[in-house]
Amino acid sequence: MIQLYFMEVEPHCNSVVIDEMMQSMSGEKKERLSRYRFDIDRKLGAYAETLARCLICLKSGVKYKELQFQVSRAGKPYLSGFPYYEFSISHARNAVAAAVSDKPVGVDVEKVRDFASGLAKRVFSQNEMAWLNGTAEDKDRRFFDIWTKKEALVKYHGTGLMKDLKLLDVKSELLREKLSTFDMGGYIMSICSCYELRETEITAISEYDFIEMWRSLII
Ligand SMILES: CC(C)(COP(=O)(O)OP(=O)(O)OC[C@H]1O[C@@H](n2cnc3c(N)ncnc32)[C@H](O)[C@@H]1OP(=O)(O)O)[C@@H](O)C(=O)NCCC(=O)NCCS
Repeated sequence: MIQLYFMEVEPHCNSVVIDEMMQSMSGEKKERLSRYRFDIDRKLGAYAETLARCLICLKSGVKYKELQFQVSRAGKPYLSGFPYYEFSISHARNAVAAAVSDKPVGVDVEKVRDFASGLAKRVFSQNEMAWLNGTAEDKDRRFFDIWTKKEALVKYHGTGLMKDLKLLDVKSELLREKLSTFDMGGYIMSICSCYELRETEITAISEYDFIEMWRSLII
């Protein structure tokens, strides 16, 4: 079973709330977030991890302050001491996604926008290019369907940067079953997991409800 949450985020930043969220995070994450030039990026990074923390607490009953996140050498975050919970997070201006499961999971969210066709040619397989160009309509959504699937797959495996992304053909028979994509209005979100789609519970949460949930868990 997978719990998948999506949240659109206001551009306004409340630094008191963000700083409080950051207090529970690892030294590396705190330092990375503090270096961000724009408050909104700090907010998105803090919200995404906090959302994952809240979901793990609700699923496991473990106290919020007892959860410790660590990062693998390739950058994949994991839960120290509770190996039976897997999670993945993603943030894009201005939305976050978090997925929690008992099996490996990868999530990616992107805002739908104009895409560069040169980039598609560089990173998409022949099969993916054929699907992208299969219709003249909704090409931006098609581009981000493939893009988010690739990112979700990379996060599922935890490998990080890859030399040749064309080798990951997300439109192949082999991978199709593992990947699901959701149209969230102005955003496209994909997950990668070994669970079937019907075992994914998707929730769109408001920023207000998220803050309330977090406050109820940190007491
Ligand atoms: C690591 C990577 C997948 C992150 O994706 P992104 O779209 O840049 O950023 P997102 O907001 O969606 O995800 C960021 C989160 O991914 C997670 N992450 C980072 N490295 C990870 C890894 N190796 N495995 C799993 N998750 C990882 C972290 O939780 C990170 O959150 P944080 O930065 O707040 O700590 C991406 O930077 C990358 O290396 N991609 C390689 C493949 C590629 O080039 N794809 C291009 C599109 S096809």
